[in-house]
Amino acid sequence: LFAAVEMAPRDPILGLNEQFNADTNPAKVNLGVGVYFDENGKLPLLKCVAQAEAAMQADPKARGYLPIDGIAAYDKAVQGLVFGADSAVVQDHRVATVQAIGGTGGLKIGADFLKRLNPGAQVLISDPSWENHRALFTNAGFQVGSYPYYDADQLGINFDGMLAALNAAAEGTVVVLHACCHNPTGYDLSPAQWAQVVAAVKARNLVAFLDMAYQGFGEGIAEDGAVIQQFLAAGLDFFVSTSFSKSFSLYGERVGALSVVCASAEECTRVLSQLKIVIRTNYSNPPTHGAQVVAMVLGTPALRALWEEELAGMRLRIRAMRSALVEALNTAGVTTDLSFVTRQKGMFSYSGLNAAQMQRLRSEFGIYGVDSGRICVAALNTKNLPAVAQAMAAVMQA
Ligand code: LMR
Repeated sequence: LFAAVEMAPRDPILGLNEQFNADTNPAKVNLGVGVYFDENGKLPLLKCVAQAEAAMQADPKARGYLPIDGIAAYDKAVQGLVFGADSAVVQDHRVATVQAIGGTGGLKIGADFLKRLNPGAQVLISDPSWENHRALFTNAGFQVGSYPYYDADQLGINFDGMLAALNAAAEGTVVVLHACCHNPTGYDLSPAQWAQVVAAVKARNLVAFLDMAYQGFGEGIAEDGAVIQQFLAAGLDFFVSTSFSKSFSLYGERVGALSVVCASAEECTRVLSQLKIVIRTNYSNPPTHGAQVVAMVLGTPALRALWEEELAGMRLRIRAMRSALVEALNTAGVTTDLSFVTRQKGMFSYSGLNAAQMQRLRSEFGIYGVDSGRICVAALNTKNLPAVAQAMAAVMQA
């Protein structure tokens, strides 16, 4: 039966974890996957999460099946965070939100629904984008193209190219946009540029699908979510996938959501019924624990305040690591302008290193980043940073 099955390539991101775990180099550093590690190189268990879990353990509950669309209080908390609890769209019941298995699950539910709705639509992702965007939408049955995003010469965004591609897209094209902390480049659009993107989406009748996996890691929770308000103000119907993997350090709990903004409450009821079919036929209904934790933290003022404080702590430490990396690279003799590293937002830095340089970092120095040149600055700390900077300087100057 399986004689003709071909060996599939490793996943470009998660496959690096497998390689890293197998590496016996004691000085190895994992800057591959987008995971935040603290100053001691440890994956944090946030205090707000630990407190919510302690409260849950003090009053343990049996676990029946959840509704297909997940915990109602969780879906409501997601809407409050993403759109604002007092926003007209939430008040008017025009958002269909379903709990999803991570942000990836949110994307996949949205992709499967869109495929039923508009099977002939093209999908455009940014060039470059998170490696899984192309694979996920392709597997959902779409033709996936791209719009220009990264400008290697300017060390920034090719905004004219991006806008031209959106303006040339056929009506109904699904455009996958990174709401904040662009993965992999770290370069985000300015509010004025977003306004132009929103106008192009509206004028061309495109379908915006915002991937928001890093809310709070750029400038702040409200600032990073500001683009949502622009889409709402334009009166558009659109999709948002949410992930709490990073912002709650709950990677393994797979806590995410999909929200679909609709034109009316009645339309929203019909959309929700279709999302539920997609979920039911894929994995029936979602798991309980992680979503319960997030719902409790977001719904309890003291825990929510603690979460915002802890999230700000992660954001600021990443920023400090960006500056420290630039300084260490300069000290190690790199003379080119590295200010782009501190302009980038979120967990990643698109370092400009090519695949050969990234492979050399791995094989000679045990430093793992993605072949695209992406490194996870959220995994740097004051202890591993000097060796990382030395190794990067060595491959950059060769
Ligand atoms: C990443 O880009 O490293 C993260 O989003 C983790 C993943 O699932 O790829």
